[in-house]
Amino acid sequence: MKITIIGTGYVGLVTGACLAEIGNDVFCLDVDPRKIDILNNGGVPIHEPGLREIIARTRAHGRITFSTDVKASVEHGEIQFIAVGTPPDEDGSADLQYVLEAARNIGRYMNGFKVIVDKSTVPVGTAERVRSVVMAELEARGAGGSDAHSFSVVSNPEFLKEGAAVEDFMRPDRIVIGIDDDERGRLAREKMKRLYAPFNRNHERTLYMDVRSAEFTKYAANAMLATRISFMNEMSNLADRVGADIEAVRRGIGSDPRIGYHFLYAGVGYGGSCFPKDVQALVRTAGENGHRLRILEAVEDVNHEQKQVLVQKIENVLGRDLTGRTFAVWGLSFKPNTDDMREAPSRRVIAALLARGARVRAYDPVALDEARRVFALDLAHEPDALARLSLVSSQEEALPDADALVILTEWKEFKSPDFMHMTSVLKNSVIFDGRNLYEPEAMAELGIDYYAIGRPH
Ligand code: UGA
Repeated sequence: MKITIIGTGYVGLVTGACLAEIGNDVFCLDVDPRKIDILNNGGVPIHEPGLREIIARTRAHGRITFSTDVKASVEHGEIQFIAVGTPPDEDGSADLQYVLEAARNIGRYMNGFKVIVDKSTVPVGTAERVRSVVMAELEARGAGGSDAHSFSVVSNPEFLKEGAAVEDFMRPDRIVIGIDDDERGRLAREKMKRLYAPFNRNHERTLYMDVRSAEFTKYAANAMLATRISFMNEMSNLADRVGADIEAVRRGIGSDPRIGYHFLYAGVGYGGSCFPKDVQALVRTAGENGHRLRILEAVEDVNHEQKQVLVQKIENVLGRDLTGRTFAVWGLSFKPNTDDMREAPSRRVIAALLARGARVRAYDPVALDEARRVFALDLAHEPDALARLSLVSSQEEALPDADALVILTEWKEFKSPDFMHMTSVLKNSVIFDGRNLYEPEAMAELGIDYYAIGRPH
């Protein structure tokens, strides 16, 4: 099928590449010529396992094109995916200007029946706004109401996780499609069904529903997952106070199939481009509808405080003034297998250590370039603090003479380090682990003073 993807960010690029991989003819549009240049020169602007290979392969077969040509992009696809950013406004609600601009362009140039798919995470009611914008544009062209320019707006939220995005796209748990119950909606449904047929071979994974419920489903899913994490983080703080082990508690409750094991890991708080933004946007949507989501307000508060829990532990051990101390930090991205540092806990933790006078020597397997960029921005007004941060190119290099090791992301390579070597080069054998990577007993045997999240010391 002929597909257009508007926006080559995470969701757009992964969607475009994967749809090309299964045989579609995909046109990816971005307004940013730099991104398109990178892609046309064989580069990939984001780090995502497997993506580079798929793009190289599908490009070689002529099934994926990258361009800034808006008119050509609209003319190309019978299905137009809108996968542009929806950054938070100052008030926390999703900023829809890029989504509506994409809709405007579709209305301006469309040349036949189009299925317009909202793939970006957008608040309930956005499909209707997209529809109005396209209609207004068609009317301005004198083409409103003509069958040759008919369209249907579909909501098809994306549930992929960064770091496993290709895998998630290729093997989805479910495909949610919100569609209007009218003649054009039925035509759109047929096209969506054909597009996703290869993912439904073994069993049908598509859930069809009305458009508003599909839009809501995306937010409710992320809000539920964020709630589980904040819940476990709260439990871990209590476990610290009553001397219980949150890891044992996690296994104990996860074995109940009604609860399940996923997303029950206590840590330094959730980050990334989705949970913080989506929880906030849902709280906003509720406010706009005269309703309060008290649980989600608490989920946000707990997460905000959780990003300081490790700093609190460090202060309890080493005191508030950390002048003259050096910390080795392992892990900067908000989670493993990505270089994404949006809302990453490392930004708050490192800023707090630097603000208390410490030096920080930090390592991440893939996020060093991104770290250089974000810390230069975060600490633009604190050049003294920025000067005390160094980014090093191996995990060992971070350690020599450090007062403690601080772990902020659970990259695989941090899971079984050479502890003998570590203790021989650290000034003090102290680990503050924000991801509960090691067993407290094993650490005690090695003579390491080990502080984790909700685990016995
Ligand atoms: C999340 C959802 O998991 C995806 O289903 C969704 O499609 C995506 O948002 C989105 O809306 O686009 P993502 O932000 O890539 O995906 O990352 P997650 O793996 O969900 O992790 C989010 C944060 O929660 C990370 O900071 C992670 O460290 C933290 N986390 C996760 C925990 O602290 N504990 C856990 O048990 C799980």
